[in-house]
Amino acid sequence: MNENLDHILSEVRNHVSSAPTREELERLRVHYVGKKGVITSLLHQLKDLPAEKRKEMGARLNDVKTDVEKVLKARQSELNRKALEDQLNSAPALDLSLPGQYATSAGALHPVTRVMEEFIQIMKRIGFSVATGPEVELDYYNFEALNTPEHHPARDMQDTFYIEPPILLRSHTSPVQIRAMKNKKPPLQIIAPGKVYRSDYDMTHVPMFHQIEGLMVDEHISFADLKGVLHYLVKDLFGARPLRFRPSYFPFTEPSAEVDMQCISCRGSGKECRVCKSTGWLEIGGCGMVHPNVFRSVNYDPDKVSGFAFGMGMERIAMLKYGIDDIRSFFENDLRMLEQFSC
Ligand code: DAH
Repeated sequence: MNENLDHILSEVRNHVSSAPTREELERLRVHYVGKKGVITSLLHQLKDLPAEKRKEMGARLNDVKTDVEKVLKARQSELNRKALEDQLNSAPALDLSLPGQYATSAGALHPVTRVMEEFIQIMKRIGFSVATGPEVELDYYNFEALNTPEHHPARDMQDTFYIEPPILLRSHTSPVQIRAMKNKKPPLQIIAPGKVYRSDYDMTHVPMFHQIEGLMVDEHISFADLKGVLHYLVKDLFGARPLRFRPSYFPFTEPSAEVDMQCISCRGSGKECRVCKSTGWLEIGGCGMVHPNVFRSVNYDPDKVSGFAFGMGMERIAMLKYGIDDIRSFFENDLRMLEQFSC
C-alpha cells in the first residue's frame, strides 16, 4: 500500500500541475479527494487492516491527503490568476477620454437674481454704491420718516405684514433711503436692492418680491438728472427707447411720477398688444424729487440739498425682459421654467 501511495502522490503532482483548466482541476479533486475519491476510499479501507498497521497507514494516508490538497490548492490559485490575466488581456482597452454616462448639471442664477445683478452692475458704472437695510423694519423707517405718518391714506396702498406694531416686514426698499442718509452726510448716491413684503397674491403680485431703490442727493440735483439716470439704465437693460413720466403721488417725493417705457413688444403702436394692453406703454417704477420733510427727518437742510429717488420691482423688470406673464411662476421652482434662463 505504501508503494501505491507514493505512486498516487507522484501521479497527482503530474496531473494536477499540468491541469489546463479549472474544470479539469475540479475533476481531479473529485477523483482523488472527493467523497468517492481514490484517497477517500483508501481511508475507508483502513478499518480492514490489523490494529498496528492501521495506525501507521492512517498517519501516512492523512499526510498524503494533506499533500494532495496542497498541490490542488496551489494549482487552483495559479489557474485563477491566469484566468484573470486572460480576462484583462482580452478586454477592450479602457478609453478614459469617453464622456461619462451621466452629465452633472451646473446650477444657475434665478432669472430675478440675474436681472438684479445686471441692474446693480449698470448703476455701479455710473457711481452708485449698494446700501442695505433690514427686512424686519420699524414703522418709523418704513412710513413715518418717509413723510407717511400714522393714518396717512398712502399706508392703505401697501397692505403690510405687522410682526407686532411698530415692527413690520418692510413693504418697500425706501426705508433704506432714511438709514443711508442718517449714516452719511451728502453727497449720496446709492441703490438699495432687496426683498419686500406685501399681503397681495395674483398674476402680477406675490407676498414677497424684490425691489431696487435709487437715491441721489447733492446740491442742485434736478429732475433732469433723474431722467438722465433712468434713460441710461433702461437703455442698458432693454435697449434705447422713449420714457414717459406720468404725474403721480408718493408721500416721500414731490413732484412724483410713474415711469413708463415704450412697449418692447408693439414698439408703442399699441395695436392689439397683449403686453401693454394696447396702451403702447409699460410701467416700470415710481420716482420723484425727495420731499423736504424726508430731508428734515434725517437732518439734511432742504434749502441746501436736493435729490431724486426711484423704486422698481425686479420681478416686473424680469417679466418684461423675458416675456413672462405670471409672476408666480418665478417661485414655483419648476425647472422647466427656470432652466430656460440658465445659460
Ligand atoms: N416705494 C415705492 C413703492 O414701493 C416706490 C417708489 C416710488 C420709490 C417713488 C421711490 C420713489 O424712491 O421716489 O411703491
